[in-house]
Amino acid sequence: MYRSNTCGELRLEHAGQEVTLAGWVQRVRRMGGMTFVDLRDRYGITQLVFDEETDAELCARASHLGREYVVQATGKVRERYAKNDKMPTGDIEIVVERLEVLNQSQTPPFTIEENTDGGDDLRMKYRYLDIRREPVRRNLELRHKFCLEVRRYLDEQGFIEVETPVLVGSTPEGARDFIVPSRMNPGQFYALPQSPQTLKQLLMVAGMDRYFQIVKCFRDEDLRADRQPEFTQIDCEMSFVSQDDIITTFEGMAKHLFKTLRGVDLGDAPFLRLPWSEAMRRFGSDKPDMRFGMEFVELCDVLKGSGTFGVLNDAAYIGGICAPGCASYTRKQIDQLTDFVRSPQIGAGGLIYARVQEDGSVKSSVDKFYAPEVLDKLKETMQAQPGDLILILSGADAMKTRRQLCELRLEMGARLGLRDKNKFALLWVVDFPMFEWSDEEGRLMAMHHPFTSPKPADIGKLDTDPASVLADAYDMVCNGVEVGGGSIRIHDAVLQAKIFDILGFTPERAQEQFGFLMNAFKYGAPPHGGLAYGLDRWVSLFAGLDSIRDCIAFPKNNSGRDVMLDAPSIVDQSQLDELRLDLRPE
Ligand code: AMO
Repeated sequence: MYRSNTCGELRLEHAGQEVTLAGWVQRVRRMGGMTFVDLRDRYGITQLVFDEETDAELCARASHLGREYVVQATGKVRERYAKNDKMPTGDIEIVVERLEVLNQSQTPPFTIEENTDGGDDLRMKYRYLDIRREPVRRNLELRHKFCLEVRRYLDEQGFIEVETPVLVGSTPEGARDFIVPSRMNPGQFYALPQSPQTLKQLLMVAGMDRYFQIVKCFRDEDLRADRQPEFTQIDCEMSFVSQDDIITTFEGMAKHLFKTLRGVDLGDAPFLRLPWSEAMRRFGSDKPDMRFGMEFVELCDVLKGSGTFGVLNDAAYIGGICAPGCASYTRKQIDQLTDFVRSPQIGAGGLIYARVQEDGSVKSSVDKFYAPEVLDKLKETMQAQPGDLILILSGADAMKTRRQLCELRLEMGARLGLRDKNKFALLWVVDFPMFEWSDEEGRLMAMHHPFTSPKPADIGKLDTDPASVLADAYDMVCNGVEVGGGSIRIHDAVLQAKIFDILGFTPERAQEQFGFLMNAFKYGAPPHGGLAYGLDRWVSLFAGLDSIRDCIAFPKNNSGRDVMLDAPSIVDQSQLDELRLDLRPE
C-alpha cells in the first residue's frame, strides 16, 4: 500500500494515528533542529516534520529533498503547535518515522504554487507541472463536476448520450474545417466535425427523440480568449418540440448547474428573451453584458444637422452612452479612451465626449459646433446627471458603429468595476435574422447554420425579401458571453432545398454536400430542434476565468499550437507518400 491517506484529509481527530502519505515535495524549510516539508497531492498539502533530536539522519535526508521529489512518508499525526488556519490540514502535522524517495525531480521551471512565477508559454510547455498547481487542478475538478451534473440533469429529462463519429464529411457552419487525408481513399479527405449538427438531426430522423453528447468540436478559426480550435460542446437535440420547449429545458439546465455548482438560486422566473434587433439597438451586440446598464441612446435626432460638425452631419448613426460619475475624467483618461476606440481592433474614427458639470452645464469636445441648447438637449436625451460623462461615437455604417460603441461600453463597464465575476446576468437572444450578407463571399450566408428553420410566418418572404426573414434561432448569453445557441430545424426536404438555393448552392452541390440529410428527410423526419452549450465557456464563467484555456487540460496557444506536444509538426516523407500527398515548396 503506497498510502493510507491523502494529503488533504487529515484533521485533529486523526491525532495519534499512524499514517502513510505519498506525494510531491512542495517546500522544505529548516528551522532550528527541525525540518518541515510540505507534501502535496491532488487533495491538498500536509506538513511533515522531522526532528534532528529524534533521528538526525532522517532529518538530514529530509532537508536535502528537492522540490517536486516524489516521496512516501510514514509517521504519527500530531496536533501542531503553530496552527495554520489557511489550510484545511493546518491543525496537524505528521512526525515522520520513515521516508522513502519514490522519484527525484529536476528543479521545475516555475514555482508550483497558487501564484506561480511562470509565464504563459512556459506553463503551457510544462502543462503537466502547471496542472499540479491548485488553481488549475480546481478548474479541472469543476469541469468534471460540471459534466456530471449535465449528465444527471439530461438523463433525468430523458436524454440519452450517443456518440457520433469524429471522421466525417464537411458540415459548413461558418468556420474552416480541419481536414484529414484518407490513406485508403487516395485524394479524399475526412473533415473533423465543427459540430455534430447534421448527425444529431439524423438521430432525430432515427427516432432517438432526445439526444445529447459531450463532444469535441473542431474549427479552424482565429483564436480569442473564448475560442479554441478544439473545444467541447454539450450538444443536444429534441423531437416534437417548439422553441419554447427547448428554451424551457435548457433554462432548467442552466438553473440546475448554477444551483448545484455555484450555489446560486436563479429563481423560478424565466430568463429575459431579447429580440436580436433590440439587443443590437440597445447594446450593439448579439451577446449583451446585462450586468450593468449604460444602454445606447440614439442621437441622430439631437446632433445630426443641428450644428456645424460635418462628421456628425454626415453620419448614418450617432449613439451615446452615459458613464456615471466620470465627468471628472482627466485629459489623459479621455485620451486613453480615444486611443482605445481608434485602435485597429475597434476602428472608430474618434470619440466625442461631453461632461455634465456639477452646475448642470455641459462642456464637450464639440462645443464650438453646437449651440448650448443643443448640448442641453443632448444631456436631457441621455438622461445624464451632474458628474456624468457622455461618450459618443458616429459612423457611416450603423451596424459597425454600434459594435464599436459596444466595445466602449464594455470598456467603461470594466473601468467602473461593473463586470463583477460573481454576478451573473443570463438571457436569451431570440429572433435572429435568418441570413446575413457576406461581403467576402458576395452572397447571403446563414446566420446560425443552413439547417435552421425560418419563422413560419416569414416563409412567404423567402422569395421576395430573404434578408428580412427571421429565424427560429436563439442564443443563451451570460455576462456578455454566448454560452449556447440553437434553433428549430427545417424538417422538410423541399424547404431545405430552397434555403440551400438562397445560400447560393446549385441543386447539384446541395445534393453532393447534403444529399444524405435531404434524403433522410424523405423518410419521415419529425419536427425537431436543439441547442449546443459551450462547455469550456460555461466552466470558465463558473470559475471566474479570463480565458477558456484555463479550464482545458491541454489547450492550444493563440497560434493554434500545442507547445507541449509541439503540434502541429511535420510528418515523415513516407507518411506523405502513403497518402499520396505532395507538399508545395513555400
Ligand atoms: P454554435 O456554433 O453556436 O452552434 O456553437 C455552440 C456553442 O459552442 C461554443 N463555441 C465555442 N467554444 C469555444 N471555442 C470555439 N471555437 C467555439 N465555437 C463555439 C459557444 C457556442 O454558443 N450546431 C450548432 C448548435 C445547434 O444549432 O444546436 C452549433 O454548433 O458557446
